[in-house]
Amino acid sequence: MNRPVRSMHGEWTSRWAFILAATGAAVGLGNIWKFPYITGEYGGGAFVLVYLGCILLIGVPVMMAEILIGRRGRQNPFNSIESLAEEDERSPLWKYLGAMGVLTGFIILSYYSVIAGQALAYVFRVLGNMFEGVTADGARSIYVDLINQPEKLLAWHTIFMVLTMIIVSRGVQRGLEKSVRFMMPALFLILLILVWYAYQQGNAFQDAVNFLFTADFSKLTPAGVLTAMGHAFFTLSLGMGAIMVYGSYLPQKTSIFRMTLAISAMDTIVAIVAGLAIFPLVFANGLSPGAGPSLIFETLPIAFGHMDHGVLFGGLFFILLVFAALSSAIALVEPVVTWLVENFDIKRLNACIWVGVLVWMLGVLTVFSFNIGSEWTIAGRTAFELLDYLTANIMLPLGGLLIAVFAGWVMRRSSSEAELALWPAFIYHGWRFLVRYIAPAAILLVFANLTGLLF
Ligand code: PHE
Ligand code: NA
Repeated sequence: MNRPVRSMHGEWTSRWAFILAATGAAVGLGNIWKFPYITGEYGGGAFVLVYLGCILLIGVPVMMAEILIGRRGRQNPFNSIESLAEEDERSPLWKYLGAMGVLTGFIILSYYSVIAGQALAYVFRVLGNMFEGVTADGARSIYVDLINQPEKLLAWHTIFMVLTMIIVSRGVQRGLEKSVRFMMPALFLILLILVWYAYQQGNAFQDAVNFLFTADFSKLTPAGVLTAMGHAFFTLSLGMGAIMVYGSYLPQKTSIFRMTLAISAMDTIVAIVAGLAIFPLVFANGLSPGAGPSLIFETLPIAFGHMDHGVLFGGLFFILLVFAALSSAIALVEPVVTWLVENFDIKRLNACIWVGVLVWMLGVLTVFSFNIGSEWTIAGRTAFELLDYLTANIMLPLGGLLIAVFAGWVMRRSSSEAELALWPAFIYHGWRFLVRYIAPAAILLVFANLTGLLF
């Protein structure tokens, strides 16, 4: 099988379009919903430090590897890896790494959509002025009231899935490029307004800064380290081929290294700013940082309920959060959809319908795990917790490990060198060192540490 010179699905109109789309894929619920609550659960500063270390030493080199594989293969992850393996005379079995990614994205979207649905529900709660002057207890009971009703969660989940599939069926380039261009800056602006509000909470802001940036390693468990590493993959959309597919639409001349730095930097900044907006509210209102997935829904409404123009800012915030989730959701399905279109001669629209229906069905498990199925657990985890753990903590790092090995050890040096086209040469050497040794070793160490094989 020869690799095509261009993707059959087209190409980004410019490198800016790629940065926007890839940043859109990266910035999502992971930054604003997940990062704060897992940081809260695992005790703050030390967890943040491990997460930042993973972004730099694992995330950056693996993202470069994904983009280079995608751009060289110019197809969905499965076929791209297959044709690169063939070109460099390696085992065809590597293509199953692409297949694993396709499956991982499918599973992640099933619960991602349910959480995005909750954000969608909050647009209307805020606009309906439900939070005026709300207390911490009031905000909590409004959230509990929502998740206790399976039919409501199901309806919002359905709406979000339909929106996602409509965008994907029209092709990633059309529409998406334009929407991301104004959404991202607007979302960022509102986050800054929230930080400004949080800053006025006096000592609580200082407490939040200390919580986020003072590392107390005695609080860090092996499970926390694994979660931090898994989240580095999740937040950058790595380990499952999403960035790979986006790379397959990247014009040949663009610098993969610079794109990677820009995307990782923006994603990290948004996560930290979200933390600075949320934790002051946690401390000012005597809430627990370890509240879990409900954290943003319990904290931010308090801010919107008390600040000037809270309804306006709050409404806008949740609308933008839904858009940020949408631009990530389409990246989660793009690998599955391109795989179907390229290999089974299915029209894009039909592929979207099938994938959408199946993902929706799996999502029902997550819907129930918040209410009637909250007692259905395996190893103490609900369906939602299980799917999240399996994908973010196991499948993404495993995918990332294999991608690093493929790019660093399996592909010929001449191939990766030509595709990255890095200058000065030491940048290529640095990348190669990270992707061959540091990233795989770090991932393996974290896995080993978890199973108690170490220490
Ligand atoms: N990066 C997205 C977020 O932070 C989630 C995501 C993971 C998107 C994997 C695409 C692929 O919300
Ligand atoms: Na992210």
